[in-house]
Amino acid sequence: MGVFDRGTGHEQVVFCHDQASGLRAIIAIYSTTLGPALGGTRFYPYASEDDALSDVLNLSRAMAYKAACAGLDLGGGKAVIIGDPATDKTESLLRAYGRFVQSLNGRYFTAADVGTYVEDMDVIGRESTFVTGRSPAHGGAGDSSILTAYGVFQGMRAAAQVAWGKPSLSGRRVGVAGVGKVGHHLVEHLLADGASVLIADVNQAAVDRVRALHPEADVTGPEELVAAPMDVYAPCALGGAISDEVVAVLQAKVVCGAANNQLAHPGIEKQLEDRGVVYAPDYVVNSGGLIQVADEIEGYSEPRARAKATEIFDTTLRIFRLAADEGVPPAVAADRLAERRMAEIGRLRRFWLAER
Ligand SMILES: NC(=O)c1ccc[n+]([C@@H]2O[C@H](COP(=O)([O-])OP(=O)(O)OC[C@H]3O[C@@H](n4cnc5c(N)ncnc54)[C@H](O)[C@@H]3O)[C@@H](O)[C@H]2O)c1
Repeated sequence: MGVFDRGTGHEQVVFCHDQASGLRAIIAIYSTTLGPALGGTRFYPYASEDDALSDVLNLSRAMAYKAACAGLDLGGGKAVIIGDPATDKTESLLRAYGRFVQSLNGRYFTAADVGTYVEDMDVIGRESTFVTGRSPAHGGAGDSSILTAYGVFQGMRAAAQVAWGKPSLSGRRVGVAGVGKVGHHLVEHLLADGASVLIADVNQAAVDRVRALHPEADVTGPEELVAAPMDVYAPCALGGAISDEVVAVLQAKVVCGAANNQLAHPGIEKQLEDRGVVYAPDYVVNSGGLIQVADEIEGYSEPRARAKATEIFDTTLRIFRLAADEGVPPAVAADRLAERRMAEIGRLRRFWLAER
């Protein structure tokens, strides 16, 4: 299906091709209502161009909602490069891509995502000024997973406040599914707060790394984790973690994790609510990484970015309150909050101002 026929409401979708380097990329700008679109570049061996297009359209929309809820003056965008990052990623391909990013003249800022890393942003940054998530050596903020994990922890504290009347995980058991870049930092926050943790990962090396530092962390299999006795379930691996099957066996009272697009299909948020589970919306609690790369645009300040990520606690609480007031699940309340901010702040554009 073509872009227009999908009726997704995107402002602009750009197909980028450089035959010599093999670059095939799609940049999708969902909205620039609040500011320039910001979102990472995913480098992935999509089975078809259609799959790549669907992914970039969904991801860019989610970025607009994430930025709006996080209180940032940014719109939502995302890019995908079709290919296997292990074999297809070359300097010329990345630089060709960088020139396409530059051609949008600041309507889109890129950053790292699945399959791209800080060092790739440095290469893209040789062709474009609209790149964030670069290395500290190039004026960047570096690895975004530290603030992402910190933000998820703040969101989890807010969910604990709603579930148990106290903004602390002390004495709670938290199951962390996926202890990669974000998950292993989250484990550190949880242990420091007095929680006990149960971890699972399909990659034994990731488990071993956590256990080496924190022998008190308990380990189980990825399949077993969801049904294990625990107070909080923290999906920190891939999307779609909360399926019908998972809701049926979940014992946790709170779901709060870093993974994007956790709800496997629309309607799951209602099932969670019906079962009395407090669900902290994924794109709200995992916005610490976006906050970090957004801060880089101003010239990175770690204390300023951390202070902004601390606000995830208040934002998550606000969403739970809005959900209660309006009688909707928190995931719906988060969407409403984002849409209201886009409408209220976007409305101000009708006042003409001379170029600043
Ligand atoms: N890194 C960031 O700043 C950031 C920001 C926002 C959202 N996220 C999201 O958070 C999630 C984790 O990101 P990350 O940067 O830590 O990625 P990562 O690749 O470093 O870690 C993911 C971990 O999950 C494990 N895993 C994969 N499938 C699994 C399964 N079925 N069960 C258990 N473990 C499994 C992997 O082995 C890996 O160790 C992703 O969904 C990502 O999109 C990350």
